[in-house]
Amino acid sequence: MLLLALFLLIQTAPAPTGEDPVAPYAVSDTNAGGSRFKGVAMLEAFHGVAGIDRIVDDLVTTSQGDPRIGDIFKGQDMIRLRRTLKEQFCVLLNGSCHYTGRDMATAHKNLGIQAKDMNALVENLQAAMRHEGVTFPAQNAFLAKLAVMKPNVVTR
Ligand code: HEM
Repeated sequence: MLLLALFLLIQTAPAPTGEDPVAPYAVSDTNAGGSRFKGVAMLEAFHGVAGIDRIVDDLVTTSQGDPRIGDIFKGQDMIRLRRTLKEQFCVLLNGSCHYTGRDMATAHKNLGIQAKDMNALVENLQAAMRHEGVTFPAQNAFLAKLAVMKPNVVTR
């Protein structure tokens, strides 16, 4: 009974300050779309949570201003996107975080993302990781984890 009450509470939790409400969903780290790396090497390669935050901010700002994909972000909740993307990267890199966002298929289903959009975003992420000084092998290991999510993100 207690578990059911807790579950319902999570389902109906109000949107964090500054964010728009979204349709209810079950919160789980599995929504992040990939397993955690083992150990601390990847988190250290990304310079911890502070490094992840810088990389996500760089990625989001660059992508919003990118003439190839900027329009896709117009009218979306970018406060929520920055927060949940930071959580997702932190979970995948095995930080002490949890992911509270939606699964990748749900989050992207109405966006009409094409393979070329995904390629542009990956280029922006590569640049952001390079700016942060993430080593090339660590960049590639992380990109491989994201590549698995492509079928849930690219819908046409
Ligand atoms: C593997 C690649 C990708 C990952 C890991 C990813 C991750 C995320 C996450 C964590 C969210 C937030 C989920 C939530 O609000 O609950 C999100 C939403 C979003 N993503 Fe992605 N994304 C990817 C690819 C892309 C691409 C290629 C684009 C466009 C070029 C894009 C555009 C967006 C937009 C506009 C939203 C906001 C949707 C909304 O608020 O309804 N994403 N993504």
